Amino acid sequence: MRVLFVCLGNICRSPSAQGVFQKLLAHSELASLVEVDSAGTADYHVGKPPDRRAIAAASRRGVDISRLSARRVADSDFAEFDLILAADHSNLLELLRRAPAHCAAKIRLFMSYAPHDAEEIPDPYYGGEQGFEDVLDMLERASQGLLASLGEGASVTTACQPCST
Ligand code: 4NP
Repeated sequence: MRVLFVCLGNICRSPSAQGVFQKLLAHSELASLVEVDSAGTADYHVGKPPDRRAIAAASRRGVDISRLSARRVADSDFAEFDLILAADHSNLLELLRRAPAHCAAKIRLFMSYAPHDAEEIPDPYYGGEQGFEDVLDMLERASQGLLASLGEGASVTTACQPCST
């Protein structure tokens, strides 16, 4: 299972989502079954590390995103990833516009995994430090929901494996 987190610039929300979810995943029984990456719909910051405020806020929660490098969503991502999770409606629409029609079902809002939260992860880029903390709070809640959802899927898959005896 491969999961791609997507925002606009791939320097604030989606690398933070990648880091937060990867940390949660690492402590779960799905660790060896799920791969995670992130990308942006725009190419403004390609090749750059995450925003220093995102790196600092994640680091305060024990998440190291300093070695990530921004990239733009590639056409091949739509085939290579099983789940493509957008930070906001604008990213979602852009992904759906670019994706082959048969890939639309794997594209959704990341916050759909935290149904009691807002639907969109607000862009913290033009705001202050608190915006990055708020984003991380949301990402932690959605990551819990995503992990639970993948775990349910994994147990169904396991139950459907052919019996070896
Ligand atoms: P992100 O935030 O989409 O969460 O990475 C942004 C980063 C950069 C810009 C906008 C949003 N920008 O306009 O450069």
